[in-house]
Order: sequence, then structure tokens, then C-alpha cells
Amino acid sequence: MKAVKMEIWVFWFFVFFSFLLFHVCFSDAQTPGFVSLDCGGSDSYTDELGIQWFPDDQIRFGQSSNISIPDETRQQYMTLRSFPNDNRKYCYTLNVTTRTRYLVRATFMYGNFDNNNVYPKFDVSMGATPWSTIVISDASTVEVIEMIFLAADSTISVCLSNATTGQPFISTLELRQFNGSMYITDYENQYYMSVSARINFGADSADPVRYPDDPYDRMWESDSLKKPNFLVDVAAGTEKISTKLPIDVSGDDKPPQKVMQTAVMGKNGTLSYRLNLDGFPGGGWAFTYFAEIEDIGADDVRKFRLVLPDAPQVSKAAVNILENAQGKNRLYEPGFQDLTLPFVLSFKFVKTPDSTLGPLINAMEINKYVKKNGGTLDGPTITKLVSQYLSADWAQEGGDPCLPVPWSWLGCNSDPQPLVTVIHLSRKNLTGNIPSELTNLGGLVELWLDGNSLTGPIPDFSGCPNLKIIHLENNQLTGSVPSSFGDMQNLRELYLQNNLLSGRLPSNLGDNLVVNITGNANLHKASSRSSQTGIIIGSSIGAAVLLIATIVSCRFLHKGKTPEKKFGDQAHLGNVLPSKKKSASLESTTTEAAHCFTFSELEEATKDFEKKIGSGGYGVVYYGKLKDGREIAVKVLTSNSFQGKREFSNEVTLLSRIHHRNLVQFLGYCQEDGKSILVYEFMHSGTLKEHLYGPLTRERGVNWIQRLEIAEDAARGIEYLHTGCVPAIIHRDLKTSNILLDMNMRAKVSDFGLSKLAVDGASHVSSIVRGTVGYLDPEYYISQQLTDKSDVYSFGVILLELISGQEAISNENFGVNCRNIVQWAKMHIESGDIQGIIDPSLRDEYDIQSMWKIAEKALMCVQAHGHMRPSISEVLKEVQDAIMIEKETRGTREGNSDDISRQSLHSSIQLGSMDLGPTDSYLSIDESIARPTAR
Ligand SMILES: *[C@@H]1O[C@H](CO)[C@@H](O)[C@H](O)[C@H]1NC(C)=O
Ligand SMILES: *[C@@H]1O[C@H](CO)[C@@H](O)[C@H](O)[C@H]1NC(C)=O
Ligand SMILES: *[C@@H]1O[C@H](CO)[C@@H](O)[C@H](O)[C@H]1NC(C)=O
Ligand SMILES: *[C@@H]1O[C@H](CO)[C@@H](O)[C@H](O)[C@H]1NC(C)=O
Ligand SMILES: *[C@@H]1O[C@H](CO)[C@@H](O)[C@H](O)[C@H]1NC(C)=O
Ligand SMILES: *[C@@H]1O[C@H](CO)[C@@H](O)[C@H](O)[C@H]1NC(C)=O
Repeated sequence: MKAVKMEIWVFWFFVFFSFLLFHVCFSDAQTPGFVSLDCGGSDSYTDELGIQWFPDDQIRFGQSSNISIPDETRQQYMTLRSFPNDNRKYCYTLNVTTRTRYLVRATFMYGNFDNNNVYPKFDVSMGATPWSTIVISDASTVEVIEMIFLAADSTISVCLSNATTGQPFISTLELRQFNGSMYITDYENQYYMSVSARINFGADSADPVRYPDDPYDRMWESDSLKKPNFLVDVAAGTEKISTKLPIDVSGDDKPPQKVMQTAVMGKNGTLSYRLNLDGFPGGGWAFTYFAEIEDIGADDVRKFRLVLPDAPQVSKAAVNILENAQGKNRLYEPGFQDLTLPFVLSFKFVKTPDSTLGPLINAMEINKYVKKNGGTLDGPTITKLVSQYLSADWAQEGGDPCLPVPWSWLGCNSDPQPLVTVIHLSRKNLTGNIPSELTNLGGLVELWLDGNSLTGPIPDFSGCPNLKIIHLENNQLTGSVPSSFGDMQNLRELYLQNNLLSGRLPSNLGDNLVVNITGNANLHKASSRSSQTGIIIGSSIGAAVLLIATIVSCRFLHKGKTPEKKFGDQAHLGNVLPSKKKSASLESTTTEAAHCFTFSELEEATKDFEKKIGSGGYGVVYYGKLKDGREIAVKVLTSNSFQGKREFSNEVTLLSRIHHRNLVQFLGYCQEDGKSILVYEFMHSGTLKEHLYGPLTRERGVNWIQRLEIAEDAARGIEYLHTGCVPAIIHRDLKTSNILLDMNMRAKVSDFGLSKLAVDGASHVSSIVRGTVGYLDPEYYISQQLTDKSDVYSFGVILLELISGQEAISNENFGVNCRNIVQWAKMHIESGDIQGIIDPSLRDEYDIQSMWKIAEKALMCVQAHGHMRPSISEVLKEVQDAIMIEKETRGTREGNSDDISRQSLHSSIQLGSMDLGPTDSYLSIDESIARPTAR
């Protein structure tokens, strides 16, 4: 008896204990309020931070891939999910609790998953709201985007679409639930907040502080992170300080203690920084976090002001952390809820005259307001419709039905809040009645439900007054044809054949309505008006012709009038046609050769090689004019390696297939009498080199914005060679003399593909390093491994030349022991002395911000190792940003000549400038910086 009791006791103890164990394990692993999807993954696991990851097996689309970066150890980045490059969108749907605030984070690490080395570029949206364009510029860098939002619905969706290069993909998708009123704003019902900067100053390492130090797993980026344009222009005398003492952050929504325990201090009285703000200019939210963590003497005072060089009005109240936070090691967090910020933000903290100590800052957060798009007005109706077919793939596309691109079976108009105009559900195994939701779609123009197993009667479609075309054929519909069709003024085509309809066609159907009712044994035409209504019964040849004519003209009209039509729209054609064309031209490679000029033709055109317009590594170039008046540049190749090459014509045929607005057009070739000649379009304004430091510079120098536009053009041309050609073409010899200018001073790249021409096919010379001294990638020189990053190096040199007007190599201009523009510029730029390298002939006609942007990018391009250099696409983006800055500045500069107008629009910082209607509560300037703001 006793033994039995004992056994029961042991049993229950065991049950209880294992329950406890299980329970503990479970709650430990699944951090509450966290959803962490390892996209493309197959297992659940807990990472070293204690975050539990789950595979994204809920999604029905896309393909999972492994990245090919062998030393990546973070499991969530080893796999990803990629989607086809088409005109669809691919969405994740996450469950959330309504009226609760969250952080959603998506990360992207390309890792050459497709073994293609094409860096993808695509858009990410949150529901119907555009969120970010992801531009991959490096295979092993994790791109991170974060959004803070108040959940309005029980789900959110994150969608990928509109890939312009490569395939859209995603590595992780993470959701972090905030507590209570964290990140509450006055605008949260209409705006999301996209995270631009979250900085931990004085950090111990380059790694971000995150979970478990931050219970919400926000990532506090280290200020020592080396990222382009991330915290540059640091003032002299900036020192790190830290404490081990606890910081009273009172409440876990504040920065974690670990972040507040470190800071930077401006020993010389100033802290200054400049940083790029992703997504700006725009309306933003900015908070700073201060805690006095130094032991300061009784006589010492630390008082300072925020100074925004571009917005003097913002720097009113002084901060005294001890007073504001009411003690040492306590948090003070002033900020702005509504501020307009530029995308290059310069800010300073400067000590006040009565302060004995320099300024100090521990952390900072800047978010950008992103206006929510409510999505299609038909959203609720479509949601109800698809909820009846949840097992079908087409009902699972997720996100907004119309935005940013419509579901595969829908068409929408182009209103900001669109209406559904086309429903294309042919042959989708639909059963049951025609869904009644369809009759509520007021914007519907075309309805295709043919080839399903729909039963029951045809509903009244008079709620869709715009319907033009209705396809209901090949179903099992019963009952009569509703007379409401007769009242629909826009209806042109009604297909009812092969159903089980009965009765008579209503007699009020319009004259120009085409109706096909064949294959409905019990349905009869209307008694009296059949001859006039154009109803086709059976197959009368005359009527068939009429029908076809009507369809064709309707389609035609329809196309013209409703560009939103899904199944033939521009975007679609734009995506499909070029690739078709491309593959077609590749197929015909063997038949369609480059144009072959005869030698005598070229002799005549060049008047016996009379006018020499240039010479370079590959030969001498002559001016010519063809009989049809076209001006040409005729390049007579000198190198022996071109001669007698069997593949010469194959290679030039390849060249002739490369067409781009920013590449000098190749017109043809000639190979006669042992001469190899290439013929190009003639570029009127010569080479960039001549304009930068030739004799031409005095008469017509190129100003800064022209230089930027030339850089943009050239970068586009190179981008096309790198990403638009298969296989990618590496130029190998980029330099200012290979960038040619047309009459309007727009640039094209020349001599692409030539080095390949010279090298390939003679494998014993392929190890000869080609290129021009001064532009040559040192890594290529050493390793002889050629990559597209070698071109990026050369392009960086060109950017430096554009800034400085100096040649790449000079014996005199760069001072003692320095012959090379890279060394010289690097020295100046890194010590903050950009003025020291700017071309004096630019006078003061440039914006220093755009100059900095280009200078910093140029330095990235000439990094010693290829993998540290950006892709040409990234450089292009930077050049375009600089152009934008310059154009805005110029607008103000030209409008007003006094000095104040130099302050560019892009860098204007305004308070309370968001136009949010009558409920605005603008912060007043004095209050906002001085007041400990309750968030
Ligand atoms: C990814 O790698 C894992 C383990 O090496 C392998 O089992 C899996 O098949 C790979 N997946 C793909 C899509 O290649
Ligand atoms: C989301 O919620 C729905 C219904 O509330 C549920 O059926 C579904 O399984 C949930 N999805 C996830 C991923 O938890
Ligand atoms: C697709 O991307 C291109 C280039 O980024 C952009 O110009 C275009 O507006 C985008 N299209 C849509 C529908 O968002
Ligand atoms: C900052 O102070 C140090 C000495 O405290 C001095 O050497 C340095 O020149 C100062 N820098 C500036 C910019 O004033
Ligand atoms: C319709 O159902 C058939 C048979 O169940 C199936 O083979 C077919 O793939 C389905 N078609 C669609 C579009 O779902
Ligand atoms: C009407 O539909 C039937 C069956 O689909 C087809 O054979 C016939 O050609 C159609 N009539 C006309 C005029 O298009």
C-alpha cells in the first residue's frame, strides 16, 4: 500500500516536473511579442541571442535558396527566399494585435544565392504603402529596413515587387511588439515611421546593442560603424566616455542601460556630425538621449545647445543634463515629434559660454514619417470574396489587391486609391454561385468567370455600371438572363454560351451589345428584336464577322481609354519585351553580323584618313562622314593582337549588340589588307579629358552640375555593361579620355569590350594586365583577377578628377612623394579638408554637401580591396543624389544672389511643417528642445 502510494507520488511529481520543464523551455524560447521568420529556412532554432527563429513555410510562393558565402555563420542569413522577376508582388502576412505598436524589420543579404552576381534592386511595401527600394550593392552586407507602426488591422503584410535588376528576395522578417505608449505620436493613425538612424554614441564595439539588452530588440547602431556617410565630419576633441554604474532609464521603452552607459564628449567644446538620413528629405521624428555619466566637480557646469547649421531657429534652449534629468546617471530625452529634415543632416552640440565642460550625447533616434496609403477602395469587398476560396493559390497573394501592383488576376485603375477594373478568374475551378461581392465593384469594366463550375442564377450586375465585357461561358449557370443587363449602358459583350440557362433573352438588350448564347438548350432569343440587336445565335458567317469587328474595335478603344488594364499594360510589356528581344537577338547571333564596311568606303568617308581626332592605346581615330551624311569616328587598330584573329568578326558582332544611351554607338567594322578598323558614331564635344585639363578648359570649362551629369551618364553606361549584358562586360580601361561628350555635354562611354577583343582568343596573353596607369585597380594588378570592381576603382579616379580638375598622375601637382591623385585626395578628404582639392575653376558654384557626397563615394571606390568598393549602381545612386542637392541649391541660388540663399532647400530644417490638417499640434521651438518630453 505504502509502496503504491509512493509510486503515485513519484508519478505526479514526475508529471509536474516535466510540465514545469516543458513550460520553462517554451517560454524561454519563444520571446513574447516576437515573430522571427527565417525566410527560406527549414528548421526552428534559437540563435545565440536567445531569439527563436521559425521557417517561413506559411508563404506559398517563391523558392528557398542557400547563399554562397562560406564563412557566414548566422543561420538566419544562410538561407533566403527569392521570387521571380515578374510584374507581380509577393507578400508575407503577419498576425498582429490591433491598436498595438510594433517594429517590423526586414533584412536582405544577397550572398550571390542565384550564382549570378547580379545585385538585385526591388521595392518593398507595407500593405499598399511604399516602404523602401532595396538596392543591393554588396553580396555579404545585410541591408536592414525597419518600420514602427500602430496596428490598425489584425494583420499586416510586407510585399516585394518591381525588381528592376535581379530577383526580389528576403532573408528575414521580424516583428517586435512594443509596450504601452512607446513611440506614440500624434500622427500615428495616418503615418508609419520608418527608422532612419538609431545611434549608440561612444559604443564599445562596432556591433549593435540589441536583444537581450534591449527587450524590444531595437538595434542601436554603434557610432564606430564604418558605413558610407554614417557619422562623418566628427569634431576634433571628440572623446568616448563610459560608466559601469547603473543608469536610471525609468521604463524599458527608453534606450537600454548599456546604450546610455556610453557617450561621446566634445572636449574642445563642440560635438559635430554629419550623416545621411535614409528616406529623407521629409517629415521626421527625432529624439536625443542624454545622461550625465561623468564625475563632474562641484564647480563644473555642462551646458550646451543643439545647433543645426541650416536651421538657426532650432537652437534656442540650452541643455543642462544634471538639471534636466534631476541628477547624475539619469535619462533626459528632449526631441521633436514633427520636424522636416534633409537627407544630409549636419548637427552640432556646442557648449554655452558659461559652461566649463563640453557637450555630451549618449544616443539618438531619427524616424521618417511615411504616409499610409489606405489601399484600394474595393479592399473589403475583395477580402470577402477571397475569403471563400482560401485554399486556392490565387486567393493567397496577400497585401492590397491593387497596390503597389495588382494581384495576378486583377486589374485596377490608376487612382491614388484605386478601384478594381478587371477580374480574371477564368478556369479557376470555382464552384457554387457567382459570388455576390462581384456585383458591388462599381469600377469593374471586365469580368472573366468562364470555364469554371459555377451554378445557380446570374445575379443583377447593375451595381457595376461600367461593365463592358462579361464572360460567363462554360459554366453550369441556370435560370434566366436578367433583364438588368438591358439597363447597363456600357455593356458591349456578354458571353453566356454552354450553360444551362433557360427562358428568353430580355428584349431590352441594347443594339450594339454582342451576346453569344450558343449551347444553352433552353434559352431562346427574344421574340421580336433579334434581327436588330446583333445577337448571334448559332454561327452565321456575316454575324461572326460583325462580332469579331466589334470585339477588335472595343478592345482597341478599351486599351486606349483604360491604361490600367492589367493584361496588356505598359509595365507588363516593358518587362517582357526587352528580354524577348534580347534572347531573340542572341539566338540569331550566328546569322546577323555587325555591319561590314569596305575599306574604300571608309577611305572616302575620311577623305583618305585626313583628319585625326584622337589616338589611344588601341589605335588612331579619324573623323569621317558617310554618304548619308552621318558623321563617324573611324578607329584604325594598331595592336598586332587584333590582326588575323579568327574571332574578330564574332567579337565585333557581340559589340554591335550592345546598345545603350550612354555607350558610344558601334556602327561597324572593316577588316581588309591586314587592317582592323572599328567605326563609331562621332561625338561632337570630344573627350572629358580635354574639358577637364586640356586647352579647352579656359574657354568653356565644365561646371559642377555638368560634371555630375557627366558622371551620371558614364555610370549608367558602365552599369549597363555590368548588369545589363550577359555575360557582364568589364570595361578594363575607364579613364577621362574614354568618356566622350556630345553636343549637349552629355556623356557616353567608349572603347568598351575592346580589351576583351584584344585579349581573348590568345590565352597566353590573357594574363597581361591591361589598363592605364593611374586608373588601374591595384588589386587587379597584383592578383590579375579581373572583376567589375576594377572598373569601379577607375571610376573613383574619374570622380576625383571631376572634383579636382587634376590628372590622375602628375609629377608636380600633388606635392613631394606623391604622384597619384588617389593618395593626394585621400589625404585631404580624410582630414576633412575638401576645399584643398576642389578645382579652383569651379569657383564657389557648387553645394558643399554634394561635393562631400561625391568625394566620400570616390574614396569608397578606390579602396584597396574590390569587395570593399561599392557597385557601380550604388555609385550612380549617390551621383544622382548629389545632382538633386545641386539642383535644389541652384534653384535658390539663382532666385536670389545674396549669401543666405546658398542655404539649399534640401537642407532646410523646419519645425512643425507636416501638413496634417486641422488637428495639428505643432511643437513650439523653445519647449521642444528644453522640455523633458513624455513619449
Ligand atoms: C541548402 O543547404 C542544405 C544543407 O547544406 C541542403 O540540405 C539543402 O538542400 C540546400 N538547399 C538548396 C535549396 O539548395
Ligand atoms: C493568424 O491568425 C489566424 C486566425 O486568427 C490563424 O488561423 C493563423 O494560423 C495565424 N497565423 C499565424 C502565422 O500565427
Ligand atoms: C519600379 O521601379 C522603378 C525604378 O526603381 C521606378 O521608377 C518605378 O516607379 C517603380 N514602379 C512602381 C510601380 O513602383
Ligand atoms: C582641441 O584641443 C586640443 C588640446 O586639448 C588641441 O590640441 C586641438 O588643437 C584642439 N582642436 C581644435 C580644433 O580646437
Ligand atoms: C482544378 O481542379 C483540377 C482537378 O481537381 C486540377 O487538376 C486543376 O489543377 C485545378 N485547376 C486549378 C486552376 O486550380
Ligand atoms: C459563340 O460561342 C460558340 C461556343 O463557344 C462558338 O463556337 C461560336 O463561334 C461563338 N459565336 C461567335 C459568333 O463568336
